[in-house]
Amino acid sequence: MPCVRSSLRECLAWRLRSGLLKMTGAVACLIVLYMSALTTLNSIDESQANTGPFYLTTIFQSRLGNHLFIYASLLGLARAQNRTPFIPSGTYLDNVFQISHVDDSISAEGFRLMRHTTFGVVYPSLWNLPRENITLHGPREVFRYFENIEDEVRREFTFCAPLQRQINETLGKVRAEFKGHVIVGVHVRRGDFLIDFNKKLGFGVPKVSYFINAFHRMRSMLKGRKVTFLTASDDLEWCHENLNFTDVKILEPGSAELHFGVLANCDHVILSSGTYGWWAAWLADGISIYYDGYFSNGSRMRSDVNLSDYYPPRWIAVGD
Ligand SMILES: *[C@@H]1O[C@H](CO)[C@@H](O)[C@H](O)[C@H]1NC(C)=O
Ligand SMILES: *[C@@H]1O[C@H](CO)[C@@H](O)[C@H](O)[C@H]1NC(C)=O
Ligand SMILES: *[C@@H]1O[C@H](CO)[C@@H](O)[C@H](O)[C@H]1NC(C)=O
Ligand SMILES: *[C@@H]1O[C@H](CO)[C@@H](O)[C@H](O)[C@H]1NC(C)=O
Ligand SMILES: *[C@@H]1O[C@H](CO)[C@@H](O)[C@H](O)[C@H]1NC(C)=O
Repeated sequence: MPCVRSSLRECLAWRLRSGLLKMTGAVACLIVLYMSALTTLNSIDESQANTGPFYLTTIFQSRLGNHLFIYASLLGLARAQNRTPFIPSGTYLDNVFQISHVDDSISAEGFRLMRHTTFGVVYPSLWNLPRENITLHGPREVFRYFENIEDEVRREFTFCAPLQRQINETLGKVRAEFKGHVIVGVHVRRGDFLIDFNKKLGFGVPKVSYFINAFHRMRSMLKGRKVTFLTASDDLEWCHENLNFTDVKILEPGSAELHFGVLANCDHVILSSGTYGWWAAWLADGISIYYDGYFSNGSRMRSDVNLSDYYPPRWIAVGD
């Protein structure tokens, strides 16, 4: 609508100039005047700065899985509130995905910084951003922030072509070896989650019984199909020792990005702990089974997450 002008006089003048002063034009101008009067009444303190566009950017922290949450929620929050999202180059995302909102030409200097430290809960204030340029800073491990733009997030997380070729090659070999099988990606997260400090925070790491339960559950949901559990881990040795079953195939050592992409391209995913497995499952978009003890009961981690904002409702919880 061309008549979004700040005053009746401006609006009428514009219509006169363009030779369009008709009854409908005048009515539209009156509506604009009425609405701008309302806005003025409601937000006198914002009257200085409330001309857009407003930019929304973010600070990144931690690694791949966290970066995905940070970026996806940036987009979801920006789209819902008509902000222009952008991020600087140089994040983990650059060489992995074909993301489209990298822009080093905009400076975030002078942007209002909004911090939110609790990782797994919705901050209502983020759904109601002040009309300013803003830099978000916090983990935002909450799918609610981007469930409004799921398709766009999936497009943004299209793998870069060279990586996708590598993924295809790796997964293609597995599919050729296990012709006709459903390939279920399994992520076994161990590593630093096992150190005392992280255990005390509440990072739970499943025992082998979790994987046995999850395999059983998955097989029962894929009744009649042959299944291969294709496993990636930061502790491949543990997998070889503990998941030594005939229907488990363990990936050769490879980069974190390659293994991530292979899991994300599987038919279904079983995740254990951490955001990396979460995102592999979300991108694979099949059946997702997760470990119900990732956030240990009674821990700091557990109190910082609302499980119904963290795990999509259709995902299936399994214990060890
Ligand atoms: C927002 O940031 C852009 C880019 O730096 C700047 O041009 C614009 O004036 C800023 N707007 C406000 C309301 O601060
Ligand atoms: C990877 O495999 C998929 C499915 O087989 C195919 O559609 C896609 O074009 C392949 N991509 C690349 C980069 O090889
Ligand atoms: C895996 O199981 C096979 C047969 O049960 C056994 O021969 C092999 O030593 C096992 N491998 C490991 C790494 O435990
Ligand atoms: C953790 O708490 C939930 C809910 O209170 C309970 O269902 C679950 O069994 C507990 N898990 C463990 C490992 O104690
Ligand atoms: C957890 O999230 C759900 C869904 O968003 C919400 O209905 C519920 O009130 C939240 N629980 C708490 C304790 O905040």
